[in-house]
Amino acid sequence: MTLLAQPLKLACGATLPNRIAKVAMTEGLSDARLFATERHNRVYRQWSEGGAGLLITGNVMIDRWVMERPGNVAIDPVDRFRPGYEGFERLKAYAAAGTVAGNHLWMQISHAGRQSPWYVAKRPLAPSAVQLDLLGNYKTPRPLREEEILDFIQRFANVARVAREAGFTGAQIHSAHGYLLSSFLSPVTNTRSDDWGGSLANRARFLIESIRATRKAVGADFPLAIKLNSDDFRRGGFSFDDCLKLIEMLNAETLDLIEISGGTYEQPKLLGADGRSEDALPLKASTVKREAYFLEYAQAIRQVAKMPILMPGGFRSRAGMEAALESGDVDVIGLARPLCTMPDLPKKLLAGSIEEAPAFERTFAPRSQRFTARLINLLGQMGWYYAHIEDLGDGKLLKLDRSITAAFFRYLKNEYGTAWRMQRS
Ligand SMILES: Cc1cc2nc3c(=O)[nH]c(=O)nc-3n(C[C@H](O)[C@H](O)[C@H](O)COP(=O)(O)O)c2cc1C
Repeated sequence: MTLLAQPLKLACGATLPNRIAKVAMTEGLSDARLFATERHNRVYRQWSEGGAGLLITGNVMIDRWVMERPGNVAIDPVDRFRPGYEGFERLKAYAAAGTVAGNHLWMQISHAGRQSPWYVAKRPLAPSAVQLDLLGNYKTPRPLREEEILDFIQRFANVARVAREAGFTGAQIHSAHGYLLSSFLSPVTNTRSDDWGGSLANRARFLIESIRATRKAVGADFPLAIKLNSDDFRRGGFSFDDCLKLIEMLNAETLDLIEISGGTYEQPKLLGADGRSEDALPLKASTVKREAYFLEYAQAIRQVAKMPILMPGGFRSRAGMEAALESGDVDVIGLARPLCTMPDLPKKLLAGSIEEAPAFERTFAPRSQRFTARLINLLGQMGWYYAHIEDLGDGKLLKLDRSITAAFFRYLKNEYGTAWRMQRS
């Protein structure tokens, strides 16, 4: 049996049937009320049948006013998601479709914080009033009041409880990529002087209290994970040293798995891309040469982490995945982009019938080093993957020769159009 095919028993008692996870990708497929739709069911049925032992949903928001993107599913207000109510029944159908093959399906629970664009959030919410300066897309956030933080902690817990009731088999709290919990961890975006800012223990309080409240709400036998940055890759931000110290603190919590990523919108290392050069911190040199760009960090994390480690970010070859598992530094391999164009890639990897995920990464202006050009290029690429997720959701044949320019304009049209419909519903 290949290492990829080995099951993994989690501390809560649940077992992942193999070591491949489809990690979170925001779908943008909700209806104007932010309910899940038949399009989610279609995509997740294909991913379930595609063979990954674990599927993690894209961002599901705890706050309908400060979302990551138009078209996110939001479970807010929570009390409208009781059995029998439409939003809840939609989640049930989603969970049923996403587990048809007996795999796990975990809901990624999230708050976008300062990274919610102007056409979604009139006033983003964040630890401090530190604006995200990117293409003029983000307004200055309002610092959260303590009672709001306490309310959000309960919302993470309540949304996880709803997920469990609806049939999702686990939950992941999103604390990476610069969204709300992640921005609390960073001294650049969290300049508070109260109990929620300053020392690492204070910056991590929101996350740790959210984990505790969520565990209480879902019970001891339900998989609970977090997604965390290895590093923000930004001068003065949440550092690798912070990450190691935080993981030591997290060992005392009841987490079943930790997913390690990195970067924020300003430094989009999660996608292997570079951000603005003035405040960037580079990836370790040896990592750049590797297929999986956070692997280097896993070695040190393994020394401190008591929980299993899930790692996405650049894995493409079966040999690379097997080697990462073999090293013992990583327990589960995360895949995102390759599953937009080949939803049954995990099955093929497990059967040994494919050696490498086909590469489709496209660019607008590959040689331009200008920050804006690189950023637009990245948005075009994201639009390209979103378009494929939509095609899967519509049951269409994938259009692999779609141009990145077409994907970019389709992305803009969709974002603004969906935001407009959302605001009118
Ligand atoms: C289209 C797209 C949407 C994404 N949405 C999310 C998301 O909702 N939550 C999250 O934690 N990461 C998100 N990511 C990051 C992925 O989970 C993953 O960390 C990253 O794509 C690297 O893995 P890959 O090289 O296999 O694509 C997204 C990535 C892509 C390409």
